[in-house]
Amino acid sequence: MGKVPTRLVSWEDIVEWSRGLAIKVRESNYKPDVIIAVARGGFVPARLLCDFLNVENLISIQSQHWTEAAKAAEKAIIKFAYELDLSGKKALLVDDIVDTGESLILARDFILKHWKPAELRIATLQWISPVAKLKPDYYYIEVTEWIWFQYPWTRLEDTFQFMKRMISEEGKHKKVWSYDELVGKFLEWYEIDVGEKYFREAIRLLIEEGILELHDDMYYYRG
Ligand code: ADE
Repeated sequence: MGKVPTRLVSWEDIVEWSRGLAIKVRESNYKPDVIIAVARGGFVPARLLCDFLNVENLISIQSQHWTEAAKAAEKAIIKFAYELDLSGKKALLVDDIVDTGESLILARDFILKHWKPAELRIATLQWISPVAKLKPDYYYIEVTEWIWFQYPWTRLEDTFQFMKRMISEEGKHKKVWSYDELVGKFLEWYEIDVGEKYFREAIRLLIEEGILELHDDMYYYRG
């Protein structure tokens, strides 16, 4: 996999989008008794929705994608599935984004079957309408062309993965890199500036993984 269309999302964006989402929920007159965050992407938006909607009860469910290497197919599973009684309660299931929608569909079906809330609605900051198999009851932004949103809570993970991809491709013909060259090439590939702290942390992880080696201020590609 090569270059990915990417947009940097700031903490300020997240607060603004969460507030906008909360207003949509409020204006629909839905007053949830409990908010359910989909781990891990829904954690920050769910906490902010608790604040903007004045909801005290916050729980979570972890719905995760597993790549079945042999089949090259993806399958979502509920991790740490636990029993809970939400009968009589109005619930709001919150995630950052509906992309394919598979992990949210799985979480929704699990909750309806096992936790049995009186009502369950879904709210997400973003909805990628052309690829999603599910339309949330509430969303703040409809995305009409697929893009990778670089959220602040996956900044290091994404920078590391992106840099790993870039260096494994560029490393075919360039083995020795300065810090400025690594960052310069990253900016050229992805057109997002995550800042020096994240670039340094990502490079540290690449060294830990044995992909880069540091000698006299230069990074040697060993992948
Ligand atoms: N998680 C799943 N799809 C995503 C996307 N397009 N951007 C950011 N995070 C995601």
